[in-house]
Amino acid sequence: MSIPTEGSVRPSAWPRPGLEPRVDGARMLRRLAEMSRVGARPGRGITRLGLTAEETAARALLAEQCRGDGLVSATDKAGNLVIRRGRRARRDRPALLMGSHIDTVADGGRLDGAYGVTAACEVLSMLNQHNVDLAYEPVAVAFTNEEGALFPYPFFGSLGLAGQVDTEQARRMSAEGVALPDALRAAGGDLDRIDEAAWPAGSVAGYLELHIEQGPVLEAADVPIGVVHSITGRTVLDITVSGGQNHAGTTPMRMRHDALTVAARVVLAVERLARVRDLCRVATVGRIVAEPNVTNVIPGTVRLTAEIRDGRAARLRAAEQVISTELAQLATATDTGITVKINPVTEPVDTDGTLRRAVTDAAYELGLRHMEMDSGAGHDAQIVAAIAPVGMIFVPSRDGVSHAPCEHTEDVHLVAGANTLLRTVLKVAQP
Ligand code: GLV
Ligand code: MN
Ligand code: MN
Repeated sequence: MSIPTEGSVRPSAWPRPGLEPRVDGARMLRRLAEMSRVGARPGRGITRLGLTAEETAARALLAEQCRGDGLVSATDKAGNLVIRRGRRARRDRPALLMGSHIDTVADGGRLDGAYGVTAACEVLSMLNQHNVDLAYEPVAVAFTNEEGALFPYPFFGSLGLAGQVDTEQARRMSAEGVALPDALRAAGGDLDRIDEAAWPAGSVAGYLELHIEQGPVLEAADVPIGVVHSITGRTVLDITVSGGQNHAGTTPMRMRHDALTVAARVVLAVERLARVRDLCRVATVGRIVAEPNVTNVIPGTVRLTAEIRDGRAARLRAAEQVISTELAQLATATDTGITVKINPVTEPVDTDGTLRRAVTDAAYELGLRHMEMDSGAGHDAQIVAAIAPVGMIFVPSRDGVSHAPCEHTEDVHLVAGANTLLRTVLKVAQP
């Protein structure tokens, strides 16, 4: 579907002559503050993991906030909250989706995901309030389990919307003794009927996601709006090192098969992929569990999760190959077992050129400095890209920090981002 976006916002697209289209910034910030209390732990940021009671509470709060503005919302079979303009919705028209995710990582910040969702609802409320007639029906979406921080199925909600959930894989998954299908049911979804969450071909004209940058680029350049060009790809590898569990006092050093010291070499090999060999942009081991994890026992098994990211799929494939070969050699050299399981990868995607131009024009018309940039974080947009053109808007992150309690963006930038989203919608969907 092509989206014409020539020229600036026509006065007719905004039925309040003389008044610039603007969101209610104070209302949006108040609602974002309400949302940041869901899953908050004193001194530890926010833990609102996907497919948990905290995430369900956040969905309920969002639905209540939207109801106050005359919007209607429903949870789909993938656990996403889909929000529409009630009576005014023109369901016969292709949808222009806006949104982000409502879950967080453990001890996360208040903006990653929640900002884009709250801003999307604010834009929808404004369009509803002013009864704006558009070529595409605006719809806001709060995606579930984008982070995959508890149930290791990141982008679950957007994959559901794109009709790409692997139900067999999802059925086998569990976390803390809870099976994913049960967690999904408690969240209002249904794995057996997840097909119903998929949007049919042609029903989505485009998707726009507003998000904090989560990196240092915009702040360093003193630019309030980022126009995202490409979104990184990511491969997650589950690595298990099997050695020999034994007594830490009696086993001579030369007779050990210490899984943890071998795992330390695995960590450094993963880091080298990016830092030294430049085979991918970044490489991280973020999770490591030693068994039995007891002071006077040589660890017998260590499980690690490594992730590598790059903007080019071919480089990711090469890095996956290199680390697999290198770890096989390490296993031989240390007389241990090392298995590497490559999980389904998230491929890098480019945003749509027309939507990029619309965001650029919107920022320009609002008098906001802007720049094109790439995203080093993953986003639901890269999943929705399988079924529709996508665009992304970034706002600066203080000190480039995210996935941490001190994640922060100045209010003036949060409101500027929401105004840019509103104006972009008016441009791409003008009748
Ligand atoms: C998403 O939060 C990511 O890890 O990129
Ligand atoms: Mn995140
Ligand atoms: Mn995010």
